[in-house]
Amino acid sequence: MYRTNTCGELRLSDVNKTVTLAGWVQRSRKMGGMIFIDLRDRYGITQLLFDESYDAELCARASRLGREYVIQVTGKVCERSNKNINLPTGEVEILASQLVVLNESKTPPFTIDDNTDGGDDLRMKFRYLDLRRNIVRRNLYLRHQMAFETRRYLDSLGFLEVETPVLVGSTPEGARDFVVPSRMNPGEFYALPQSPQTLKQLLMVSGFDRYFQIVKCFRDEDLRADRQPEFTQIDCEMSFVEQDDILQIFEGLVKHLFKSIKNIDFAGDFPRMTFADAMKYYGSDKPDIRFDMRFVELKDIVKDCGFSVLDEAEYVGGICAIGCAGYTRKQIDELTEFVKRPQIGAKGLIYVRCDNDGTFKSSADKFLSQDLLKKIAAQMNAKSGDLLLILAGANTKTRKQLGELRLEMGNRLGLTDKNVFAPLWVIDFPLFEWDEDTQRYYAMHHPFTSPKAEDVPLLDTATGTVRANAYDMVVNGVELGGGSIRIHDSHLQHKMFELLGFTPEKAQAQFGFLMNAFQYGAPPHGGVAFGLDRFVSLFAGLDSIRDCIAFPKNNAGRDVMLNAPSVIDNAQLDELCLKVEPKK
Ligand code: AMO
Repeated sequence: MYRTNTCGELRLSDVNKTVTLAGWVQRSRKMGGMIFIDLRDRYGITQLLFDESYDAELCARASRLGREYVIQVTGKVCERSNKNINLPTGEVEILASQLVVLNESKTPPFTIDDNTDGGDDLRMKFRYLDLRRNIVRRNLYLRHQMAFETRRYLDSLGFLEVETPVLVGSTPEGARDFVVPSRMNPGEFYALPQSPQTLKQLLMVSGFDRYFQIVKCFRDEDLRADRQPEFTQIDCEMSFVEQDDILQIFEGLVKHLFKSIKNIDFAGDFPRMTFADAMKYYGSDKPDIRFDMRFVELKDIVKDCGFSVLDEAEYVGGICAIGCAGYTRKQIDELTEFVKRPQIGAKGLIYVRCDNDGTFKSSADKFLSQDLLKKIAAQMNAKSGDLLLILAGANTKTRKQLGELRLEMGNRLGLTDKNVFAPLWVIDFPLFEWDEDTQRYYAMHHPFTSPKAEDVPLLDTATGTVRANAYDMVVNGVELGGGSIRIHDSHLQHKMFELLGFTPEKAQAQFGFLMNAFQYGAPPHGGVAFGLDRFVSLFAGLDSIRDCIAFPKNNAGRDVMLNAPSVIDNAQLDELCLKVEPKK
């Protein structure tokens, strides 16, 4: 046995025991004739004491130990005179009587500490060292707990975890596929699954009734803080269910995780909001409802005011920042610059200050009379001391811009506390999304999502207005999960492919397996998938999902530690019948 105890375990009650610990040298301090070493393992840190007056030779050897050496130490547990109340083991130390150096270490390229001096790139290159830091290890522990509690909850409800293959054909989730060449089938490629969507539907046709899988998914898309090229889903599917059944069961999962991991209870059901309302009031399909600040539409009030920016705009809307009338010129300029950033793209920002004397001051004073400003303030339910921020322009675009401004104000006003959680189901998504560039409809969720029964007659006549039985779980403005009730009727599925511009041949070639399966008795079914990485980062209060992934990719999709992707040698290319051309 290398050790009798871990480095996080010993307490005052263990005083006088002889123990053996093994771990890494976190740091070492020399004080007079004594050397103090913090010994670290996954479980914590324990102080070792090497005392010259007790064993001079041992003490001399201890003085040669470097940072991150792996050592084994035997000694007696003693009460510390200088206690460290910040450390669970801080009341004791080990008076060392034996020392074995199990392995030496080069000096690490950055300090292995919560506040490390290592930059992002360096830490990623030496991720195995980064993972020794508490802060990172804690996230992986949380991830383990969440996966474990997910399995516990779903198992208790009869869900069966079934593994699906990673080498598959193309799956349509809207991103590009990662592809893998097949040596045995020259010129042919597998695609890595963007999700196990079609496979879990086939499991329903097979009668599995309740499936789940904690599964890697792969999407070749532009990366952001909440996106990785490979990420993990809690993927679920159920048969003989309607939308409400799914929302109930998976609201249960979310509540179970909040309760078991964070000891947070939610009273009552999670609120539900239609996609139409989310866009109308928040300009986003994933509204952060930790704070209110809903949009108020002003087009009717300001029409014909003589200010062309408002008169000509398709949409005029504003938000009321409570108590912000005192914002300085500089603060308002900052907000104007914020909405004018290229990523947001507004042309300008109109403000109205509701002063305490009942008058109004606005950047559009020239065009907006006190009377009109009063009407605007009344419409927006504003009180003296409030600041109104108004944007005008094309409908969808302006709502999105106003949504960004709302989030910015929420942050500035401290309304986005990471320890407050506001879950929300967004429901009734449109079935289709129109794309101006390619002049065609795309499935907003994926092509297997079922339209609402009452909207089926509109499929041909008012395609863009058809609503889907699709839903997203949103917490604090993060899309944690999404799903839908599926089409289980092969005729309707054919129709869907037709509306999405698939020829019957192309639909057959790509999804023939699913449509064929639907001819053999497919049960009504539906499901959902949560992004585990996003879920963990939300619980951990992280800004990027990378921090809860053991070996993540950087923003260019690279693993800088493994140096992947990388070129392969010619022999390998020849075997795969591949030739690499320089990028045009
Ligand atoms: P969807 O595409 O909405 O649905 O994905 C489900 C959830 O997966 C997470 N997610 C990601 N997380 C990190 N990096 C990414 N690149 C990434 N992409 C998605 C999000 C998202 O809500 N098959 C359907 C589910 C279904 O209909 O049952 C699907 O994959 O949290």
